[in-house]
Amino acid sequence: MRSAIIMAAGKGTRMYSDLPKVLHKVANKTMVDNILDSLHEIDVDQVVTVVGYGSQLVMDEIKDRCQYAIQSEQLGTAHAVMQASQLEHLQGETLVINGDCPCILSSTLKMLLDEAKENDMVVLTTKLDDAKAYGRIVRNQEGYIVRIVEFKDCSEDEACIQEINTGIYCFKNEALFKYLKLVKNDNAQKEYYITDLVRIFNEHHLKVKAVLSNNPEEVQGINNKVELAMANAFKRRLINEKLMLEGVTLLDPMHTYIDADVTFGKDCIVYPNVVIEGKCHIADHSVILPNCFIKDSVIGSHSVIDSSRITDSEVGSHVHIGPNSHLRNGCKIADEVRIGNFVELKNTSLGYNTKCAHLTYVGDSVVGSKVNFGCGVVTVNYDGKHKYQTIIKDGAFIGSNVNLIAPVSVGENAVCAAGSTITEDVEDGAMAISRAYQINKPDYGNRYKNK
Ligand code: UD1
Ligand code: CA
Repeated sequence: MRSAIIMAAGKGTRMYSDLPKVLHKVANKTMVDNILDSLHEIDVDQVVTVVGYGSQLVMDEIKDRCQYAIQSEQLGTAHAVMQASQLEHLQGETLVINGDCPCILSSTLKMLLDEAKENDMVVLTTKLDDAKAYGRIVRNQEGYIVRIVEFKDCSEDEACIQEINTGIYCFKNEALFKYLKLVKNDNAQKEYYITDLVRIFNEHHLKVKAVLSNNPEEVQGINNKVELAMANAFKRRLINEKLMLEGVTLLDPMHTYIDADVTFGKDCIVYPNVVIEGKCHIADHSVILPNCFIKDSVIGSHSVIDSSRITDSEVGSHVHIGPNSHLRNGCKIADEVRIGNFVELKNTSLGYNTKCAHLTYVGDSVVGSKVNFGCGVVTVNYDGKHKYQTIIKDGAFIGSNVNLIAPVSVGENAVCAAGSTITEDVEDGAMAISRAYQINKPDYGNRYKNK
């Protein structure tokens, strides 16, 4: 049986935030979600997250991705682990992970689980030039770990030790819960430290091993916004490197922000200053030009997206969008559509090869194929109380500056003359003109100018 405990009950005072520390995001996922993702990649039978400060917020965010234990008072990391009592009588290995370690990789966790088969406790350590306030690893002359000293309890000599505790451990589960009961809070912070278990295990002749990681960026804890930014940069770099090795061209990976759950087909190119969030797929040969924000959407193959915002939408192949357009709330764009600049589409489907090139709003609409929108078309879908649908059938031509007062429908191959306000349905093949008649008054122009 393999288990894991994530310690996530602390407030994170040094973040100066209303949010519990573990809900701060790294590569657009909460710190806990990042850890859960890594645990998900290896076989762990159960995961318990210990929550306390802002527990409801944390559970609402993480939902049923793991079990929970409540630590109502934050009396220290050993006390936190004790709350995971649902694991108490299990055999096997248990990972214990600080909730503020979002960059930890599954390969490292797997290595710790393997090490714990031969040992009762394994501590993941790393070496830092500036060991800050981390717990220091004290080794004996043979090189074995003897104890961990918290920074606040360090002697001057101990403070000079560069090897630090990452706050990531793996235990034989039975030993963990047996000896947790012996941890006392007689230290500078009056807290129950999990780190005391190193000394206690040694005193009881159990096997303790410190494993040194040579990748501090991966294993460091996040205590403030500077470290949070560093964790973000690290995680972004890993994601981007993986994408590039899989064949995606990122013109400037330092300025490209792609979430872990975004996938690409072959030969895609992503320009700088692009953000792609959530679950997205960008299919073969598509190009994402600068300044795009794409979230939870699919982009078909051979499409080009230029300086646009697309959320919760599906875009077909050979589509061109932008610059400066906005698709939101479940738009469905068929193949070979052209959406130009300053076009907003909401909850709308556009059929094959439809063109909507300039300064247009289409909302709550079902639009057929080969429809042409002139410049400045507005579907008037809202009367201040309710939203209404507009239907535009295949081959219709909507002239410039037409207002379509919904609910309304325009038939196949029908034409709405420029400048019309369409309030009645237009039947197939008809032309609708609804304009005030023009009156030209001779010489009025001159008289007006010379007034
Ligand atoms: C801890 C370690 C330290 C290590 C460092 C690595 C202890 C005593 N010290 O220190 O040796 O170098 O991590 O980052 O463990 N938490 C609870 N309940 C509590 C206290 C903490 O759930 O009562 C959680 C926090 O939410 C956090 C994690 O445990 O996710 C670590 O707590 P934190 O206060 O950040 O410990 P450090 O002082 O960083
Ligand atoms: Ca910490």
